Amino acid sequence: MFNTIGVIGLGVMGSNIALNMASKGEQVAVYNYTRDLTDQLIAKLDRQSLNPYYEIQEFVQSLETPRKIFLMVTAGKPIDSVIHSLLPHLEAGDIIMDGGNSHYEDTERRYDELKAKGIQYLGIGISGGEVGALKGPSIMPGGDKEAYEKVAPILTKIAAQVEGVPCCIYIGPKGAGHFVKMVHNGIEYADMQLIAEAYTFLREKLLLEVHEIADIFETWNKGELKSYLIEITAEILRKKDEVTGLPLIDLILDKAGQKGTGKWTSMQAIDNGIPASIITESLFARYISALKEERVNAEKILTGPKNVEQNLDKNEWIDYIRQALYMGKVCAYSQGFTQYKMTSELFSWDLPLENIALIFRGGCIIRAEFLNVISESYQAQPNLANLLISPYFAEKLIDYQIGLRKVVCEGINSGISFPCLSSSLTYYDSYRTGNSNANLLQAQRDYFGAHTYQRRDLAGVYHTNWK
Ligand code: 6PG
Repeated sequence: MFNTIGVIGLGVMGSNIALNMASKGEQVAVYNYTRDLTDQLIAKLDRQSLNPYYEIQEFVQSLETPRKIFLMVTAGKPIDSVIHSLLPHLEAGDIIMDGGNSHYEDTERRYDELKAKGIQYLGIGISGGEVGALKGPSIMPGGDKEAYEKVAPILTKIAAQVEGVPCCIYIGPKGAGHFVKMVHNGIEYADMQLIAEAYTFLREKLLLEVHEIADIFETWNKGELKSYLIEITAEILRKKDEVTGLPLIDLILDKAGQKGTGKWTSMQAIDNGIPASIITESLFARYISALKEERVNAEKILTGPKNVEQNLDKNEWIDYIRQALYMGKVCAYSQGFTQYKMTSELFSWDLPLENIALIFRGGCIIRAEFLNVISESYQAQPNLANLLISPYFAEKLIDYQIGLRKVVCEGINSGISFPCLSSSLTYYDSYRTGNSNANLLQAQRDYFGAHTYQRRDLAGVYHTNWK
């Protein structure tokens, strides 16, 4: 009997995807470059649904045609080398899927190269970490729709399900799936940083204990802030170090890592004139965090403000922070969805914004209650320019700006850095400013470089002799 699908790359994500497929009734061939991971995996399940192969040729030959091969291999060169090793054994019509965090431009290149050889290629964004991979991730497939339809029965089965709807839909051509995953990660960076800033305010301004902050996050997670990242933050704050008994959070070194997807999101936004300032600030916050030794040194030299107000009313301010966090999140998701919209127009991808919000409701890291409202906003207005002006969010933000303004001002006056909260407020204020100061920039450009400008009152392009 032939295997219905094959998985290559049996690290944690690949193993869990294979186990997920096997648990949904698929006959899964598994292969890893080194034998040990394959052996570890098959020890976990009976061999009838998970079949190990140690030679790539045997692996490929064990698959029913058209062959469906799922790669869970480190992004970059390893993907190219696996594809290279597969090619001699494949036939026209076979389908290769890349489920890793590949750059969408690499996916487009591979798509073109493989298409020329008659092989179908799908770039599949997968979110949910290791638990999601096992129990149901959010899945963002891009490539030819016809190829997607051949694997859709498997992908929709292994995806997270919300209210009976699978968190997997066809995203768009070529690299669109990996693009959507990339921006998902940009939003993830911003969301995480916003939460970290809210935590800082609670800890450093309201002087709350870690366990009290955990309680606050737990309460927030019952309301409109309900989301996976808020939920895990409460759990993280409750965790005690087994050796010292101290909150583990206090023992973790404050240097943030990153693997590149957030950076790619910012770079794509910058290259294409898309304002993704909150996402970019969250990336820079990680970069500054990495300069730990310099920061420790600078702390001894550069002082902050003196006579800082410390007697804030706790209950009143906890609610301001809740409002600030909600508004920051809305602004960050708005930037991400604007990046989808603008890129979709640029590449004629026709990204289904309403449904992207729906598949983010389950399985993925940025799953959040308000994605329902985001989806409804696009359903009501498919050409909505920006989520900020959807009737639901506009009303909320007009109301909640008080909280965000108070928290940002208090943070600035206290010398605490709030890169993403302040950037969210700046984004909100810039976006709602009908008449900006860019007229002065245009005049300066024309003054020193004769770059010309347009006028508000007359059509045409003008240059002035400013001297
Ligand atoms: C997900 C995550 C996942 C992973 C990122 C984190 O959606 O499941 O985004 O893709 O955790 O690699 O990236 P950084 O290491 O850059 O924070």
